[in-house]
Amino acid sequence: MELFHFKFVVSLLILLFLEIFLINCDAASRCLEAENSALLQLKKGFTAALLESWQPGTNCCIWEGVACDEYGRIIGLKLSVVLISGGTIDSSLFNLTSLVSLSLAQSNFHGIPIPDSGWDRLVNLSSLDLSNAEFAGSVPASISCLKKLTFLDLSSNSLAINPMILQNMTNLKELILDYVNVSSYRDEWCGVLVNSTPILELLSMRSCSLFGAICSALPMLPFLSIIRFKDNNLDSNIPDSFGNFSSLSELCLVGNNFKGFFPYQIFQLRNLKYLYISHNPTLSGYIPEFSKYNNLKTLWVFNTNFSGNLPNSIGNLKFLTNLDLSSCKFNGTIPSSFRNLSELVYLDLSYNNFNGVVGLEFIDGLKNLSTLDISKSGLSLTQLDASIGSSSSSFPKMSILKLVGCNLTKIPTFIKYQDQMTNLDLSNNRICGKIPSWLGRIVDFKQFTSLIPSNTTSQSRLSFLSLANNNLTGEIPPFICNLTELTILILSNNKLTGTIPPCLLEDGISLLVLNLRGNQLRGAIPHGISPKCVLRIIILRDNKLEGYLPRSLSNCRSLEILDLGNNNLKDKFPYWLGNLSLLRILNLRSNKFYGLIGPPDGSHETNYNFPMMHVFDISSNNFSGNLSAKCFSSFKSMITNELGGDVYKFITLNNGMFVYVITNKNKGQLKILQNYHDTFVMSIDFSNNHFEGEIPSIIGQYVYLQLLNMSQNYLTGEIPPEIGNLVQLESLDLSRNKLYGKIPQEFVSLHFLSYLNLSYNKLVGTIPQGGQLCTFTNTSFEGNEGLHWFSCFNKLVLAVNNTTPSLPSLCGTSPNNRRYMIVLGTLFGVGFGGSIATVLVLDVMFYNKAKMRSRRTSHG
Ligand SMILES: *[C@@H]1O[C@H](CO)[C@@H](O)[C@H](O)[C@H]1NC(C)=O
Ligand SMILES: *[C@@H]1O[C@H](CO)[C@@H](O)[C@H](O)[C@H]1NC(C)=O
Ligand SMILES: *[C@@H]1O[C@H](CO)[C@@H](O)[C@H](O)[C@H]1NC(C)=O
Ligand SMILES: *[C@@H]1O[C@H](CO)[C@@H](O)[C@H](O)[C@H]1NC(C)=O
Ligand SMILES: *[C@@H]1O[C@H](CO)[C@@H](O)[C@H](O)[C@H]1NC(C)=O
Ligand SMILES: *[C@@H]1O[C@H](CO)[C@@H](O)[C@H](O)[C@H]1NC(C)=O
Ligand SMILES: *[C@@H]1O[C@H](CO)[C@@H](O)[C@H](O)[C@H]1NC(C)=O
Ligand SMILES: *[C@@H]1O[C@H](CO)[C@@H](O)[C@H](O)[C@H]1NC(C)=O
Ligand SMILES: *[C@@H]1O[C@H](CO)[C@@H](O)[C@H](O)[C@H]1NC(C)=O
Ligand SMILES: *[C@@H]1O[C@H](CO)[C@@H](O)[C@H](O)[C@H]1NC(C)=O
Ligand SMILES: *[C@@H]1O[C@H](CO)[C@@H](O)[C@H](O)[C@H]1NC(C)=O
Repeated sequence: MELFHFKFVVSLLILLFLEIFLINCDAASRCLEAENSALLQLKKGFTAALLESWQPGTNCCIWEGVACDEYGRIIGLKLSVVLISGGTIDSSLFNLTSLVSLSLAQSNFHGIPIPDSGWDRLVNLSSLDLSNAEFAGSVPASISCLKKLTFLDLSSNSLAINPMILQNMTNLKELILDYVNVSSYRDEWCGVLVNSTPILELLSMRSCSLFGAICSALPMLPFLSIIRFKDNNLDSNIPDSFGNFSSLSELCLVGNNFKGFFPYQIFQLRNLKYLYISHNPTLSGYIPEFSKYNNLKTLWVFNTNFSGNLPNSIGNLKFLTNLDLSSCKFNGTIPSSFRNLSELVYLDLSYNNFNGVVGLEFIDGLKNLSTLDISKSGLSLTQLDASIGSSSSSFPKMSILKLVGCNLTKIPTFIKYQDQMTNLDLSNNRICGKIPSWLGRIVDFKQFTSLIPSNTTSQSRLSFLSLANNNLTGEIPPFICNLTELTILILSNNKLTGTIPPCLLEDGISLLVLNLRGNQLRGAIPHGISPKCVLRIIILRDNKLEGYLPRSLSNCRSLEILDLGNNNLKDKFPYWLGNLSLLRILNLRSNKFYGLIGPPDGSHETNYNFPMMHVFDISSNNFSGNLSAKCFSSFKSMITNELGGDVYKFITLNNGMFVYVITNKNKGQLKILQNYHDTFVMSIDFSNNHFEGEIPSIIGQYVYLQLLNMSQNYLTGEIPPEIGNLVQLESLDLSRNKLYGKIPQEFVSLHFLSYLNLSYNKLVGTIPQGGQLCTFTNTSFEGNEGLHWFSCFNKLVLAVNNTTPSLPSLCGTSPNNRRYMIVLGTLFGVGFGGSIATVLVLDVMFYNKAKMRSRRTSHG
């Protein structure tokens, strides 16, 4: 997050400055003829939306984006305001020799290089902003002559820079190189800065592919106060010299691989206001004592290896607004001095090793607190004082409260008075009994206390409610229908009974996510689903629902996950869900569905082809008939991989929540709200039905398929050799059918296969040599009387004895453990703390992506 948008502030100042000129000097100054024609020449090169004002014969000093001085010389040119969408930069730009400030930022130059010559003519240029303009290539050495530059922003292009270019820019105060690749010059940039830019104040090098050691000489720059090195691969210790960095006011080292102990003196620097060191998992340290003169406002330490107790003197941080110590190894208990942190807005202590049974007295007095997260922090709220927060006006009114895994045995009553609450997460506790009805009346209290009924429409603000993984009983209370702001409701894994309140699927409530998994709900799925349905995720598995699938489910045009597994639903195949263009997961497993699959004859099958399908599970039902090619003509996403990389954003919910899939290698320190499938892979599961006929060879088109299960049916014919095309396949189960013929030789190319079951068919011949096939034992092949699997096994042993490299390297590679997990992340609503959370989660996402890539390449 940018607490100081320096670039913005600077451009704003420049703009103001220019505008004053415009107003004051318009009458006096007419632009010079030569500059007028230079601008018109420049204009010819651009495609731009807002260049109408640039007309021949008019005073160019009043043109859009142009500013003149009192003599009519153009001193400012800011092209972001004219919305450039392509073109070239004519050399006539450099005829504007009086330019003081030039900005080509926020344009789209489609990958052209920065002009190579002409810069020497801009002798007075002091501010150059080329950020976010889609320039590509190397920053030309010729800009090194801009000796008067005080502000240089080259960020967010596809550029690489040789830092020697900065050598003579001795007046630089602000240097912004975010996303510029400086990796190939890593040993040079530090020295150049320290030796050549003596009055530098701001240095921003985020995502610059920096690696190795951080520049330990930076503290020699006496005015340097803002340093941002976020998202690089710096993996050194943080030098002790930073402990003496008295000019520092903001230090951002987020998302690197720093090692060793963090010099604790940095925390104590008098001028330091913003310290972000999160996402450095091997960076150790502890929180030191703080003096009364400390000015820290924001402290992000999350996802580091920090440990130890929190000192009582943390209460001296009287300006602290944001404190995030989550996902570390802090222990001990919460100092009572927390009550002195009167400015605190955002407090996250989750996922730590604190201990002890606490109350919430430590937040009593923190009037500004809007977010509190002590989930899985080790703190236990077993004996939460029932009276806390009820009468005290000093108790904060929070909007986000997360008490996941805090050993609660009932819903704390202080929540009754939390009328600003938007997100409440009490999952993974030991809460028993019914859901209290006062949860639906949180807002009523306010109206009750204020004498004048200020607002007649009493609305709960609650938008996220999770009570998952508790011991709740009784029915889903009717008040849930009054929570009109509710977008995410998670009541999974409780003991709730009764039926699903129809309002959850009807008008008046705008749910995006409904998860009622793992309860004892009965009855039918409500059938009056509104045409305005905005649901994206419906998870009702592991209940006792019965009846048919309401056709009105197809009103939920945005549905991406529909999980109805393990109920007693009885219906024909819901081919009509196939036109939901976003549906990715359909799970009908273990129900009583019957009949043929695929669209009925005569329907326009192209309209029902599940274009986004990733997980298709109809196993353990009573489906029957031939597996015609038609059933498989859909699932385009399995042909063209929509998944992209390992980690990707999956579903964005417009209230700011999102769900995405992330490999479990790096589940890292995300706040996991709800796991979905433990294994989420591209899969087709038809097992345990009554399918007959041959396996259609069209299956070979699904080259991204990772799991295919057709076991326990009545399939006949030979195994189509096209299955050998499914090179991503990790699990293949065709067992307990009536398949005959040989195992296709093509199977040797299934290099990722870690599970194979062909048992109990009528297969004959030998097992093809090579690939993964030799690694499977007889359980994969048994029950096929004509099949000789021993030969393969012997070959393998032989090969190992001879240390032949080829065979073991194929057989020996265990396939990547590609388990996926869906994680619900939160992007919180409004407010200061809220905006931090927003970036926090996004950061984690990009961070993981970067880390994932580097890990992959480093492992080869
Ligand atoms: C720019 O300046 C050069 C040299 O001073 C001159 O030859 C050229 O005509 C100028 N271009 C425009 C478009 O004014
Ligand atoms: C550059 O700035 C100086 C000082 O303001 C001024 O005297 C000079 O004319 C400017 N040069 C140009 C080419 O405008
Ligand atoms: C910087 O200035 C010195 C002296 O004028 C010159 O020799 C050197 O080439 C310049 N460096 C760059 C990168 O322009
Ligand atoms: C940066 O440049 C180096 C060397 O040219 C290259 O190896 C690396 O891939 C680049 N990094 C990025 C993120 O483009
Ligand atoms: C920090 O400054 C003090 C006093 O100037 C000096 O004694 C100490 O050696 C410095 N420490 C580092 C690590 O530079
Ligand atoms: C807290 O952690 C520190 C360092 O990890 C350890 O020395 C100390 O004994 C721990 N204290 C408690 C109360 O567990
Ligand atoms: C929760 O309570 C149980 C039983 O009282 C106890 O064994 C457990 O340690 C507690 N958990 C925490 C995190 O305090
Ligand atoms: C839920 O309640 C049952 C009995 O009431 C108890 O056996 C079980 O341990 C409880 N589960 C949890 C997670 O507290
Ligand atoms: C009621 O509250 C809503 C939302 O806060 C507001 O837009 C509306 O103006 C309020 N109505 C009255 C009568 O205060
Ligand atoms: C829902 O709200 C209405 C009007 O505010 C109220 O009359 C009703 O009692 C509420 N229902 C429940 C179950 O709380
Ligand atoms: C492989 O080597 C082991 C020990 O070196 C030996 O016992 C075994 O008989 C050998 N197997 C074959 C098939 O040669």
